[in-house]
Amino acid sequence: MSEQKIIDGKAFAAKLRTKIAAQVAVAKSKHGFTPGLAVVLVGEDPASKVYVRNKGEQTKEAGMASFEYKLPESTSQAELLALIDKLNKDAAVHGILVQLPLPKQIDSQAVINAIDPDKDVDGFHVVNAGRLATGGKGLVPCTPFGCLLLLKDLLGDLAGKHAVVIGRSNIVGKPMAQLLLNESCTVTIAHSKTRDLPGEVRRADIVVAAVGRPEMVKGDWLKEGAVVIDVGINRIERDGKGKLVGDCDFQSCLPKVSAITPVPGGVGPMTIALLLNNTLIAAARQKG
Ligand code: GUN
Repeated sequence: MSEQKIIDGKAFAAKLRTKIAAQVAVAKSKHGFTPGLAVVLVGEDPASKVYVRNKGEQTKEAGMASFEYKLPESTSQAELLALIDKLNKDAAVHGILVQLPLPKQIDSQAVINAIDPDKDVDGFHVVNAGRLATGGKGLVPCTPFGCLLLLKDLLGDLAGKHAVVIGRSNIVGKPMAQLLLNESCTVTIAHSKTRDLPGEVRRADIVVAAVGRPEMVKGDWLKEGAVVIDVGINRIERDGKGKLVGDCDFQSCLPKVSAITPVPGGVGPMTIALLLNNTLIAAARQKG
C-alpha cells in the first residue's frame, strides 16, 4: 500500500514548529517581546494532565514563555474567573488556554467567554466564533485550523470541493465546516441524527470525521479518491491490548482514498503546533 497516501501530520507539525520558533526568535531579538502562553488546568484528569504537560514543553521549545496554573478540583467558578481576570490584564501573557473539561461546578462557556477574545488562543470565545462566521480577524480553533492546513498542503485550492464534516461540536465540527465554507467548499455537516450517513459520505471529495466513535467510517462509504481527515482519538481494547484508533476504519478506508491521516500521528500533533501559531499571532497583534 502506497506510503504517500498516509498524511504525516507529525512531520508537518514539526516543520511548522520550526518555522514558529524562527519567528519567535525574531520577535525577541528585533521587536523586543517574548510571546507568552498561560495554560490553566483545574483538577486531576489524567489525559488533561498529559496535554497540559505537552503544551508547556512545546511552548518552551519554541522559545515562548510558558505560564502554568494548576488548580485543585474543588476550585470555584469565582476563583477561576479571578485568575482569568488577572491573566487578561498581564501584558506578558498573550494567550490564555483553559484546559477542558472543567469540573462540574464550573460553567465552561462562562469561563471561555471571560477570556479577552484577543488572548483566546483556543478560538472558543463567542466573539471569535462570530469573527470566523463573518470573515473578521479572529483566532481560529487549533484542531480544525490544523486540518485545513493539511488539506491545503495536499490539494491546494479547495474551491468547489464537496466536504462532509461528521460531527457538530463547537471545538471541531462547526469551526471546521465554517473554515471549509470560507475556502468555497460545498459543505455538509452530518451528525447523529443524519439519515443515510454512508450516502452523504459517498458524495464527499473531503471527509472530516470528528464524532468520537471508533472506526465508524468504513471504506465502502467513500468515493474513490476521497481525502479523509480523521480527528478521532479513541482508546479501545483489541487482542487484549489497549490501542488508539480514529473515527475511520483505517484498513478498509486506505485502498479507497487518495490520502488519509493516521491515528496516531495525523491530526493530533497539529493541534499543539496551531496553538503555538495562535499564540504568536495573538502576541504580534497585541504588540503591533
Ligand atoms: N480539551 C481537549 N481538547 C481541547 C482543546 O483543544 N482546548 C482545550 N482548552 N481543552 C481541550
